[in-house]
Formats: sequence, C-alpha cells, structure tokens
Amino acid sequence: MPSLPLEPDPERLEAMTRAVAGFVIEQLRTLDTQPASDLDGVEAVAAGFREPVPEAGRPLEDLLERLAPAIAKSYTTNGPGYLAYIPGGGVYAAALADFLATAVNRYVGVSQTAPALAQIEETAVGWLCGLMGLPAGSRGILTSGGSLSNFSAIVTARHQRLGESFFDGRIYLSEETHHCVAKAARLAGFPQASLRTLPTDERLRLLPEALERAILEDLRKGLRPFMVVANVGTTNTGAVDPLPRVLAIAREHGLWVHADAAYGGFFRLAPGGEELVGGIEGCDSITLDPHKGLFLPYGLGALLVRDGEALARAHRDTASYIQDLTAAGSLGFADLSPELSRDFRGLRLWLPLQLHGLAAFRDQLAEKLALARWAHDALRADPRFEMLDPPQLSVVAFRLRGPAEEADRLGPELLRRVNARRRVLLSSTRVRGRYTLRICVLSFRTHHDRVRDAVEALREEAAALVGP
Ligand SMILES: Cc1ncc(COP(=O)(O)O)c(C=O)c1O
Repeated sequence: MPSLPLEPDPERLEAMTRAVAGFVIEQLRTLDTQPASDLDGVEAVAAGFREPVPEAGRPLEDLLERLAPAIAKSYTTNGPGYLAYIPGGGVYAAALADFLATAVNRYVGVSQTAPALAQIEETAVGWLCGLMGLPAGSRGILTSGGSLSNFSAIVTARHQRLGESFFDGRIYLSEETHHCVAKAARLAGFPQASLRTLPTDERLRLLPEALERAILEDLRKGLRPFMVVANVGTTNTGAVDPLPRVLAIAREHGLWVHADAAYGGFFRLAPGGEELVGGIEGCDSITLDPHKGLFLPYGLGALLVRDGEALARAHRDTASYIQDLTAAGSLGFADLSPELSRDFRGLRLWLPLQLHGLAAFRDQLAEKLALARWAHDALRADPRFEMLDPPQLSVVAFRLRGPAEEADRLGPELLRRVNARRRVLLSSTRVRGRYTLRICVLSFRTHHDRVRDAVEALREEAAALVGP
C-alpha cells in the first residue's frame, strides 16, 4: 500500500479523524473500569517502540492498535482513581481545542499574524487575572506549566528590582515550597546562596516572623532582599501561607511577592474560596496551573502579573527581520515570555470555559474540597491513622499511628498494598522527615464513591498490617 500523502483528500481526512475520535471515545467510555495504574509488562511494550524511523508510512489503524497498550500500561492519570501527586484530569473540550488549534495552525506568538485569535487568548488570560482579583493593568501569559510560570516570575522580579547585577539579591521561600522554584532561580542565574529557605508553623505554613528576621538579617549584611515566594497550596499537604502577613512584611521592605498558586489558586472560585486563599489578590505575580485546578490536560500553566508592563519589560526583545510585525508597537505574547513560536494554547482555556461555563468549575472545586474533608474525617475516626492537619485545600496527609520508626517502615507497604488493588492510586512524601501518605482530590472525574474506596482500602490494609 502506498504511503499516505502529506495532504490526504477530504474523505481520507474524515476517515482518519473518525478513527482517532472512535479510539479516544472508547478510552473515555471505559475509564471508570480501567485500573488506576497498570505497569505490568510495560517494559516489553516500551521496547516495541525502540525502532528506526520508517522510510515508508504505515496505516493509521495499525498505529492506533500499537498505541493502545502504551496508553493502558501507565498510571491512569485522567481517571477517577488518580489521587496521587497533583491530579490533572483532562476536560475533553480542551482536547477539541487543541485539535482545532493545531489543524488550523495559525501563528499567535505575534499578535499581528492572527489578531482575533490573539485576542481570544488575551481575553482568557484577562479572565484569570479577574478571577484572582488582580486590578486593571495586570497581564499574563499562558505557559506550559507551573515550573515555567515560576521561572518567568523570578526573571520579572529580578529585572524589576535588581537590574543586571543581582548576585546579592535574596529570595525567600518556605521549606515546603515546590522544588521547581529553586530550580527556576538557578536557571534565572541565581547562585544557591540567593535562596533563603524558611521554617513553617505546625500547619506547614511559612512563619512570617522568620521571614521578617531573615530580611532584616540580610539587610544588615548589605544584601538585597527582593522577592518572597508564598505558597497557595503546597504540593505536600496543600498548606496556604499567611499571605496578608507576608504581604505586609514584604511591602515594608519593598519585596516582590509571588504566589505559587499552581495547585491551590483556582480554589478561589469555590464558595468561600476567597477566604481560603485570602491575600492572593494583593500579590505582584501569581502562578496558576489550569492543568491542575481547572482540570485541563497537562501542558497549560499561567503567570499573572499585577503590573503587566513589568512582565513585558523583562521579556521584550526585537530583531530587524520582524520589523513588519512590530509596527503596532508590541509583538504580543512573544513580548511576555521566553517563547517566540508557540502553540495557540489560549483556545484550550477559552473553549472549555465557554462551553461549560465557570459555574461548572466552581461546583467541581467545591466538591473536591468537601471530598478531602470527608476523607480526613473518615480516616481520623480510625485509630490506626494519625492525621497531619485538617485539609487546608484538597490534600489529605496522614501516616500510620505508632512509634515513628515502625510507622515509617510500614507506610510504604501500606501504600503498595492499597495501590496494588488498582482502584485508586495514592502517593507519599516526607514531612519533617517523616514518611507521609497523601490523598489529593483534584480530578473532575473523582467523586464520593472513589474517595470512599480509597478510605476503605486504607482501613482494610492498615488493619491487615498492624492488626485490628
Ligand atoms: C505548588 C506547585 N508549584 C509548581 C508545580 C510545578 O508545576 P508543573 O508541573 O506544571 O511545572 C507544582 C506541580 O505539581 C506544584 O504543585
């Protein structure tokens, strides 16, 4: 059979599109009964993909057939049982948006090449600014995820507060801050000594007194404190740093306050959410991950900056070959981020919000908060478990009760047994050196039945491990 031409005729395009749609819909239709994880035999499946580039094309049907086991042998990260790490989800409308965007393949890195499409993205980012309570004049950029948003936030704050010579600059963060912040600082050119990692209180929130002490100490040494990264939902336990106090201290000393709200920021949309993440609206910049809290597919983060011009000043660049495109003064998204050519990621945010409406997301977020509280109460009622803290957002953190050494030794076995049932997938971490299990409820597909299954599995396996 001859290889498929690069420009198939419309009938063939339709047949191929139907084949992919059928494949995907079958995947989604069976999600509820798929195991939460299945890596049995995956080595052989992966080995099958170590292959030379084919000189001749192969039929789409054969390729889909090959993809099926590669998808099956994995963590079912879009399924209802995925309660590990920070779940994503994958609202289907976003897949349609990606399909549409890549098929029409318009160039949105620069606004002039598709002004109305660029406006769609700018509007969607503007919605995010408004939802976080940022004032007019704020701007943002869609990124591939929280890590890159945090990177651009650090570069913006550095540019704004320190100028070109910045080795004496100091960034303050807590011991619970996501490791991508330290990585971003390193990539932004900061030496290790620029990071001041501060202790947290009993609920794992940054201690404002420690922040103030560290700033004063550094000022006395002639250093330049310039930025605090506050957590709005830590990855470990969902802790929210005391933003109002952090903001007050930072303002007094002229520091830029960045909220890493990659996980937690969207809970502001739930009823009572403004109190849960109170103070976020006062921050200079905010990282949000729609691929977490808006349940969109992996690959969509956002950075919002109160002074939109600061974001542009830190990233704007030009070249003579694009002089025709900068006639209007601004390049567009390329002026706000390290990227030039990029996908039209705005559609993947705009289309789901248009199709479902914000209320659907608010309801989901409220349900996730309630489920986490329910799981916390159910586990707390079991004497075999020691809870770390009532969930500040939708993470439940706990360990086996008993002597530390034994609980830390049995914890991994408990996790292994629960996950081996394949109904849910949980993950673990270390908090203050102690082995800690966690349930993170964040998928729009996770409802009470699945969280109840997680709790039951934990109780039964804990009873089998440590006795009734
Ligand atoms: C609080 C927090 N910040 C940043 C990140 C990094 O985001 P991404 O994986 O989208 O780069 C994560 C990821 O889980 C996170 O939980």
